[in-house]
Amino acid sequence: MKSSIATIVLATGLVFAVLTLAARLSDVRLPGNQQGYEPVQPIAYSHRLHAGELQVDCLYCHSGAEQSRHAGVPPAGVCMNCHGFVTTSLGALRAEDELAKQEGREPRKLISPELAKLYNAMGLDERKPDPSQAQPIAWTKVHNLPDFVYFDHRAHQQAGVRCQTCHGPVETMERVRQFESLSMGWCVNCHRQANEIGVAGKPVNASIDCATCHY
Ligand code: HEC
Ligand code: HEC
Ligand code: HEC
Ligand code: HEC
Ligand code: HEC
Repeated sequence: MKSSIATIVLATGLVFAVLTLAARLSDVRLPGNQQGYEPVQPIAYSHRLHAGELQVDCLYCHSGAEQSRHAGVPPAGVCMNCHGFVTTSLGALRAEDELAKQEGREPRKLISPELAKLYNAMGLDERKPDPSQAQPIAWTKVHNLPDFVYFDHRAHQQAGVRCQTCHGPVETMERVRQFESLSMGWCVNCHRQANEIGVAGKPVNASIDCATCHY
């Protein structure tokens, strides 16, 4: 009897301690997580142009979000699906085609400086970029959760949480920036709220157990 009372007292104390800790931690942000972080990339790749104006689907380049923890960054070959032949702005390509037709000659190969840089970064000959030879580009990572946090894109994608809910209006960004704090409070508050109101009209069960996000 005595020992079971002691167990209850101890267990209650532990739960209380964890709750207090969790409440405090909700506002804590680790130094590695920087809202608004917007590093300069080796190539001035624009989401505003590709995902906004040209309306290329997020999953065309970040298909990992459906299949794995990581959304991932597209391999060079994905860029070369278009940039094997789009070597400068479409306006300039069309104007040159038109001019060449009038002058009865082959169109000249036009390469914009930014795409010359892209071919260079991929280790390709800019005058004859061969997609099969493309090397990976050293993009600078924007989002960095600490190692002791487990995050999974697939679970969120399957539940119907939109990319923009967590990453903001990426399709308007010339350069990607970290839109949210990525703090524990941000994750946990959304899990609580999602359980109350659902996501896209469907009920969800987003766990707030410590072990969901921490091993
Ligand atoms: C929905 C996901 C999620 C859940 C559930 C969660 N955490 Fe966290 N936790 C995080 C994230 C994300 C961070 C990193 C915050 C940052 O980098 O600013 C974090 C950070 C922490 C840290 C480190 C903070 C520091 O200042 O070093 C501790 C300790 C922690 N959590 C404990 C807990 C405990 C205890 C629970 C259960 C009551 C819990 N977490 C539940 C997502 C979660
Ligand atoms: C044509 C390919 C392409 C499309 C389409 C695309 N992205 Fe990206 N995305 C990239 C590349 C390349 C990077 C790495 C360079 C950078 O950060 O700009 C990236 C980086 C990101 C990052 C930052 C990753 C990090 O380092 O933390 C996020 C977030 C992101 N994309 C979200 C989106 C969303 C949301 C959409 C749809 C609205 C989208 N992307 C559409 C190619 C693409
Ligand atoms: C629930 C919030 C949430 C949603 C929804 C979400 N992301 Fe993320 N995304 C994150 C977090 C948090 C990270 C940082 C993960 C890390 O550092 O391990 C991240 C990282 C990324 C990265 C960097 C590479 C990687 O996989 O770590 C890319 C690219 C990205 N997200 C794209 C997308 C795209 C595209 C979608 C929609 C299909 C999407 N995200 C949906 C929260 C989200
Ligand atoms: C669906 C086709 C498509 C894909 C895939 C694509 N692009 Fe583009 N990209 C274009 C088009 C079309 C333009 C020219 C738009 C215009 O008329 O200005 C362009 C323009 C650019 C420019 C600007 C060129 C300049 O002259 O300023 C850069 C840099 C660029 N893309 C990099 C990339 C990178 C890096 C990737 C891979 C992550 C990629 N693109 C994937 C279609 C694509
Ligand atoms: C915009 C709301 C939202 C945000 C922000 C969010 N989540 Fe989630 N999370 C959800 C929803 C909804 C689910 C899916 C619940 C379901 O499958 O029913 C989920 C599921 C998960 C799962 C999968 C749990 C399982 O049982 O497989 C993990 C792990 C997770 N979230 C971690 C995180 C972490 C870590 C963060 C912060 C870095 C975060 N989430 C931020 C809404 C969110």
